[in-house]
Amino acid sequence: MMSSQTWLPFFIFLIQTSISSTFVTAQTLLTYVCLNNGNYTSNSTFSNNLNTIFSSLPSNMSNQGFLNSSLGQNPPDRVNVIALCRGDIQPDLCRSCIHNATIELLDLCPNQRQAMQWREFCMLRYSNNSNIFGNMADSPVRMLRNTANVTSPQQFHDDLRALFEQLRVQAASGGSLIKVAAGNRTAPDFQTIYGLLQCSPDVSPDDCSLCLTRAAQRIPGCCPDARGVRILQPSCTLRYESAPFYNLSRIQEAQPTALGPSPPRPPPPVPPLPSPPGNGNDDNTTRTVIIIVVVIIISLTIAIAACVGIFMRKRRKHKAEERVDHDEDMSTAESLQYDFGKIRAATNDFTDSSKLGQGGFGAVYKVSGNGVAM
Ligand SMILES: *[C@@H]1O[C@H](CO)[C@@H](O)[C@H](O)[C@H]1NC(C)=O
Ligand SMILES: *[C@@H]1O[C@H](CO)[C@@H](O)[C@H](O)[C@H]1NC(C)=O
Ligand SMILES: *[C@@H]1O[C@H](CO)[C@@H](O)[C@H](O)[C@H]1NC(C)=O
Ligand SMILES: *[C@@H]1O[C@H](CO)[C@@H](O)[C@H](O)[C@H]1NC(C)=O
Ligand SMILES: *[C@@H]1O[C@H](CO)[C@@H](O)[C@H](O)[C@H]1NC(C)=O
Ligand SMILES: *[C@@H]1O[C@H](CO)[C@@H](O)[C@H](O)[C@H]1NC(C)=O
Ligand SMILES: *[C@@H]1O[C@H](CO)[C@@H](O)[C@H](O)[C@H]1NC(C)=O
Ligand SMILES: *[C@@H]1O[C@H](CO)[C@@H](O)[C@H](O)[C@H]1NC(C)=O
Ligand SMILES: *[C@@H]1O[C@H](CO)[C@@H](O)[C@H](O)[C@H]1NC(C)=O
Repeated sequence: MMSSQTWLPFFIFLIQTSISSTFVTAQTLLTYVCLNNGNYTSNSTFSNNLNTIFSSLPSNMSNQGFLNSSLGQNPPDRVNVIALCRGDIQPDLCRSCIHNATIELLDLCPNQRQAMQWREFCMLRYSNNSNIFGNMADSPVRMLRNTANVTSPQQFHDDLRALFEQLRVQAASGGSLIKVAAGNRTAPDFQTIYGLLQCSPDVSPDDCSLCLTRAAQRIPGCCPDARGVRILQPSCTLRYESAPFYNLSRIQEAQPTALGPSPPRPPPPVPPLPSPPGNGNDDNTTRTVIIIVVVIIISLTIAIAACVGIFMRKRRKHKAEERVDHDEDMSTAESLQYDFGKIRAATNDFTDSSKLGQGGFGAVYKVSGNGVAM
């Protein structure tokens, strides 16, 4: 697994001061990361391996738009590559996208032993380290937002969360060839949300689910009002828009139809919380339950503290302060529903942990009205 510290952000449009991750507003998807972990020299074995493997990438892409491949004998010279196209892209467009990525990435990250690029229709990732295979990586992250805002963020995010929940389960269960799901859901003000979630198929279903959960948790910290967002992580990507942007028939076509001629119907969404422990597929669920329980306990503690505080204050017959404690009221009403995403997002995204400590839940609750928790 790669830690965010090992990656150096290279191309940055805009850094939100309070968020450690890069937050990009751009039409074009020029998003990439170079790791400056020692340069290779031109004409070296590593360089030749990289060029060789890149040149055969486009033609070797699977019908589902995925390829993991290595070239080279010894670890220092061995090149490991993951290439993945968006799950609704036709094979020829996929090849073209990967081809362009191989050229552009060498240009963007000259002589780097590790780099990755997310494009509109594909992503490309290489490293001298084979740990990029099969391991879930949710950082480095790039986030892009549609600059238009939604009108009813709270209701919108309830719908968004429900849509993500369903698509996440569907994508994670996709199998080792492709892990993608897309769908829509009616949102407030007669709008519709269109979402597409995809994992690199070499990660396990649990890791796919976890990666997508983390991606969704970044939304409140990044762009709570945005009408469209893309969260780009090495092992998974998440995107929603208020207009259709994917080809659902291609996604259905690309699913491995091993089980007969009838079009594969995705299984009904499994609600993750009530499933019994230890049935093999719920590491993440267990984690979710634990975190939610912790959050509930914290919330209840705050609620009780608030009630006690109000009670004490009333007993003091409103001595000096007439201020309404709406912060505390809000915490009891909303925390159970929203905090999980918020606290996780805050923990992940705010580098200054002292901010979280002292300003504490006040700061967290500030963004809580618009949150997505999964
Ligand atoms: C690698 O090359 C880049 C530019 O090509 C340079 O900025 C960087 O300092 C080099 N890093 C090392 C460790 O040599
Ligand atoms: C790489 O090798 C080729 C042929 O061996 C040579 O023509 C070229 O100048 C070399 N390039 C560098 C940067 O050493
Ligand atoms: C592409 O396929 C050819 C033939 O199977 C193989 O020799 C080559 O190593 C593959 N290249 C990559 C990058 O997987
Ligand atoms: C790849 O680059 C070519 C030439 O710049 C361009 O015409 C083509 O549209 C690009 N393909 C993709 C998928 O970006
Ligand atoms: C990858 O390259 C870096 C820089 O040369 C080196 O420190 C690291 O050990 C290499 N990793 C592997 C697995 O070879
Ligand atoms: C969207 O909302 C943000 C604050 O949440 C604001 O800074 C931005 O200007 C708004 N954008 C538009 C297009 O109204
Ligand atoms: C929206 O979802 C419904 C079912 O939920 C589906 O029948 C319809 O085809 C979807 N539309 C698009 C554009 O995905
Ligand atoms: C490449 O991906 C396939 C399909 O996900 C997987 O079965 C295989 O183990 C992967 N290879 C490596 C080296 O991770
Ligand atoms: C969507 O995918 C289907 C199946 O591959 C294809 O026939 C159709 O042309 C695609 N539509 C668009 C707009 O690309």
